[in-house]
Amino acid sequence: MLFEKTAISGLTVKNRIIRSATHDGLADENGAPSDKLIAKYEHLAKSEVGCIITGYAAVSRNGVSPYPRMMKIFDDSVIDRYKELTDAVHKYETPVVLQLAHCGRQTSSKAIGVQKVAPSNVLHTFYPDKAKELTDSEIYKIIDDFVTAAVRAEKAGFDGVQLHGGHGYLLHDFLSPFGNRRNDKWGGTLENRCRIVELIIKGIKEQTSLPVWIKISAQDNRKNGMRIDSSVQICKRLEAAGCDAIEVSCGTVQDGMNTMRSRLMPMDAVFKYREPCASFPKILNKIALPAANLINPLIKQPSPLENFNVDNAEAIRKAVSIPIIAVGGIHKVSDMQSILADGKADFISMCRPFICEPDLAKKLINGQPEAKCIMCNYCGLVIEKEPTRCLYGRVK
Ligand SMILES: Cc1cc2nc3c(=O)[nH]c(=O)nc-3n(C[C@H](O)[C@H](O)[C@H](O)COP(=O)(O)O)c2cc1C
Ligand code: SF4
Repeated sequence: MLFEKTAISGLTVKNRIIRSATHDGLADENGAPSDKLIAKYEHLAKSEVGCIITGYAAVSRNGVSPYPRMMKIFDDSVIDRYKELTDAVHKYETPVVLQLAHCGRQTSSKAIGVQKVAPSNVLHTFYPDKAKELTDSEIYKIIDDFVTAAVRAEKAGFDGVQLHGGHGYLLHDFLSPFGNRRNDKWGGTLENRCRIVELIIKGIKEQTSLPVWIKISAQDNRKNGMRIDSSVQICKRLEAAGCDAIEVSCGTVQDGMNTMRSRLMPMDAVFKYREPCASFPKILNKIALPAANLINPLIKQPSPLENFNVDNAEAIRKAVSIPIIAVGGIHKVSDMQSILADGKADFISMCRPFICEPDLAKKLINGQPEAKCIMCNYCGLVIEKEPTRCLYGRVK
């Protein structure tokens, strides 16, 4: 089943292995794919992955990530470069889905050059500058930005779009009572909290023929945040609005290592790549880093480490009829096979394993029993300063 040719949202795929959205840090200064990014995607396609979901691409100027070299799709000038990317991937008959995102509160006004925006001005501990609460007309503008970005994606040859509705970004904040404290038509009830996403899905469906997927955090650690019961209700509404597939993830950037789990905090990477630690004088780091390493084993990490969204994926799959993609700590072929055979998800997606082994799909098909990624999360820190790469538990 795992390695058999099948279809998702009308797209033929060679197998049920999907490369989950991964910010590559390889866009050019306009947010269009660089030659290196195109080569990376071509290599993934050549290596037999069933389908590629791109890293997140910003739909609005005020929705850009603070991480360098994020992809952007908020003007027409980038379409031709994106077309080169889809052409390179399509040579291997692999579908490629563009992930559309607005970073909301999870950016800094300084990094994006304008004040950041959010459904409500809730403090973000990593990005503490004040977010501007969106007005009615600004919300409609963001809906339009998502729809227009999808129109561009279709012109660029993408096979679908995936809305980034998780990990604490803008759409997650609208869906969750933690991030959404509004009492107008965009907040309060579950119906109101879903409104922006439903309007985006319907708008894209009206203006393109692309399948529309969403990635959600079915659960997070925030007080009054996402919980599986309400996530199931949200997914039912999104299906009714026309959503074609749901990828089930968890957590937010603020949750630390919940979305991508690890046994230990990658402390030396924190000190090298994360502000303010990265800017500490070297002499201070000489004392602070060993101290941090000493207390590191005492810092409680989310568990389990493996297959950590599968139960939530199953709960959602039982409630809807569209395909469910499970992501998060899935490494072993035997686990992938039983997740599919037991009806817990329809597709398996992976992120870090493909950073570690870009030709992973081919290796698994050829008998390698599991991914080699050790879930150290060094790659999750390097992206704050440099292009994404596997550091395999060691700052280089
Ligand atoms: C370096 C890096 C970049 C990521 N970029 C994105 C992204 O652009 N969009 C997204 O939805 N998730 C992103 N994620 C989260 C992953 O897609 C995935 O949900 C998470 O890492 C858990 O899956 P895994 O255990 O297979 O890595 C990123 C994770 C890492 C480590
Ligand atoms: S740095 Fe490499 S081994 Fe460590 S989590 Fe990232 S991809 Fe896996």
